[in-house]
Amino acid sequence: MPGRKLTVTSFFSLLSLQALARSSILRTRASTFDVIPPGFTQVGTPSSETIIDIRIALKAADNEGLQSKLYEISTPGSASYGQYLTPDQIKPYAAPSSDSVTAVTSWLESQNVSAISTGPFGEYLSFSIPVSKANDLLSAEYTNFTYSSPSSSSQAIQTWGLYTSAYSIPTDLSEHINLIHPSTAFAPPVNRNGRTILYSKAGSPSQRAVSAKLATRANTAPTSCETLVPPSCLQSLYGIPSTPATQDSNVLGVSSLQSNWALESDLESFLTEYRPDMSPNTTFTLVSVENGTNPQETGDASYEASLDIQYTVGLATDVPTAFIAVGNIDTDFFTSLTDLAEYLITADNPPQVVTTSYGVAEGFLTASSAGLMEQACNSFMQATSRGISLLFASGDDGAGGCTAGTDNLTLFTAFPAACPYVTAVGSVTGIGPETASNFSGGGFSNYFSRPTYQDAVVSSYFSSIGSANEGLYNSSGRAVPDIAAQGENIPIISNGRQVLELGTSASSPIFASVISLVNDKLVAAGKPVLGFLNPFIYSNPQAFFDIVSGSTPGLIPADCPDSVGWSAVEGWDPATGFGTPNFDAIVNAAGL
Ligand SMILES: *[C@@H]1O[C@H](CO)[C@@H](O)[C@H](O)[C@H]1NC(C)=O
Ligand SMILES: *[C@@H]1O[C@H](CO)[C@@H](O)[C@H](O)[C@H]1NC(C)=O
Ligand SMILES: *[C@@H]1O[C@H](CO)[C@@H](O)[C@H](O)[C@H]1NC(C)=O
Ligand SMILES: *[C@@H]1O[C@H](CO)[C@@H](O)[C@H](O)[C@H]1NC(C)=O
Ligand SMILES: *[C@@H]1O[C@H](CO)[C@@H](O)[C@H](O)[C@H]1NC(C)=O
Ligand SMILES: *[C@@H]1O[C@H](CO)[C@@H](O)[C@H](O)[C@H]1NC(C)=O
Ligand SMILES: *[C@@H]1O[C@H](CO)[C@@H](O)[C@H](O)[C@H]1NC(C)=O
Repeated sequence: MPGRKLTVTSFFSLLSLQALARSSILRTRASTFDVIPPGFTQVGTPSSETIIDIRIALKAADNEGLQSKLYEISTPGSASYGQYLTPDQIKPYAAPSSDSVTAVTSWLESQNVSAISTGPFGEYLSFSIPVSKANDLLSAEYTNFTYSSPSSSSQAIQTWGLYTSAYSIPTDLSEHINLIHPSTAFAPPVNRNGRTILYSKAGSPSQRAVSAKLATRANTAPTSCETLVPPSCLQSLYGIPSTPATQDSNVLGVSSLQSNWALESDLESFLTEYRPDMSPNTTFTLVSVENGTNPQETGDASYEASLDIQYTVGLATDVPTAFIAVGNIDTDFFTSLTDLAEYLITADNPPQVVTTSYGVAEGFLTASSAGLMEQACNSFMQATSRGISLLFASGDDGAGGCTAGTDNLTLFTAFPAACPYVTAVGSVTGIGPETASNFSGGGFSNYFSRPTYQDAVVSSYFSSIGSANEGLYNSSGRAVPDIAAQGENIPIISNGRQVLELGTSASSPIFASVISLVNDKLVAAGKPVLGFLNPFIYSNPQAFFDIVSGSTPGLIPADCPDSVGWSAVEGWDPATGFGTPNFDAIVNAAGL
């Protein structure tokens, strides 16, 4: 999208100067954007009566304290390992101070704006006001933008949103306010990872009875797994048991954002076809967040939700599975993530493992969105501190490409995979040996710094690659992914049709199923579940099959110069992390 940036920027600078001149009290110029990310187009000014829903995020009392606590309770060997927090124990860290609440509420009241306190711990003040009033309140100039996905691999729904090039608030409120949304931070709509390939059953390879001995592992898988990877292949490759789980309290959650729905009838056909050893009646429960639904007519299913539910229910045998449908669908990705996190933080009995296959490439975001990313990531920290493992697809854009609004080659990762409190799952393909998928998202974040649990492996990775890709990536960024699983030639049934899926979207539910089955054994043994996985993963590399071939050329955007990739090498790497799951070794590492 080169060329557009300059024109739009200078136009907005003029507007914001006028807006600032209008303000009568001493104000801090709180936030501005200067680059419009790819996909967004300004289409006009909303009428002044248009109602805008605004959320002010107040500063949390002690994010750093919660972070220390999270590492303490999630690091194997620590005295308080497994002593996960209750919402009441999270509150002192996550809630805003009463000073912040009072200061911001009084300001809003003085402006005749009545806000309600929302969020798990009252960390948001929310209100709906006419755009003209919002422009006065924030010295803003809200304009209307449409969004249309710039990526061929993305299937985001076209939509619109109101943003302002600048806003400001009274100076003395800066210390209380984290961000105001929507304002200068562009938030794309929900976007799934993954692609779908029409698949003709007749042309599928026959399940030959030959066993291909895999390098470095004892498990065997039929050679048909090179080209078609149903649950039976994953069981062979990773040693995943087909014996039913036994613990009713151990729940696997599948996130469904933006009207991605899954049919019970598709799941039944899938189980009949690919898990003849399971009851075809095995199903899942619906958890409705913000009035989310899961309609069941043929045609209602999406590929993403069908994939996610079939590779959880169909792989984590008899683990109770919850389909977490997030409603409030006319909104942006960050708001959907916040809604999901709020459920996980506050639910009486949240799932112990949650897989999410939606994300956005960092290259499609700009610096103005950093606050939104940080806010969502801190919500995930609150959720993981309850002992919930959060797994996210690492993205399908390989090593990255060009940053938003420029055609300069840069390598980047995806969000939320780059949040250090979630586990990012990359993709591999083939069985002899497993090889990094060329789209597998990974690299080094430009927004989140590297957590200490990664220091050792990432430093030794850097020494091993020398000057490769130098200058193209941020060596202080959070490294992605953490681990990987199969992500190509994955058969599913959606609206009654057989299709093949490709993407880290497939890898995340597969890895989540493995963790849920390990948790089943832990619960049965009276031990705490694995919770936040990364400290466990980084101290147990032997629990994964190391992937040492394949690379991940950056694939986006289309007009970006040819990119370079990350190669899978011995040990941790930005193509496949530590590699793919070895069920028995994970069980051993978990102390069983
Ligand atoms: C923003 O623009 C879109 C596309 O033209 C339109 O459908 C929508 O109604 C507009 N919204 C506002 C508030 O102006
Ligand atoms: C708030 O409402 C009062 C009473 O209607 C009015 O006098 C005052 O000017 C309003 N203040 C603002 C900032 O709109
Ligand atoms: C599945 O459910 C149907 C209808 O409830 C029942 O008739 C059938 O026996 C069940 N099948 C199995 C394998 O449990
Ligand atoms: C959910 O549905 C209830 C009942 O219809 C309604 O009162 C509420 O406003 C809805 N909430 C959302 C977020 O749409
Ligand atoms: C793009 O690269 C050029 C040449 O190296 C540099 O001058 C420019 O600042 C870069 N732009 C951005 C936004 O990084
Ligand atoms: C990625 O790999 C697939 C085969 O798995 C191949 O068809 C495709 O051309 C590759 N894409 C790039 C950009 O290398
Ligand atoms: C590199 O990442 C850090 C956070 O890890 C960030 O503060 C910094 O701005 C990034 N640098 C660039 C050039 O993106």
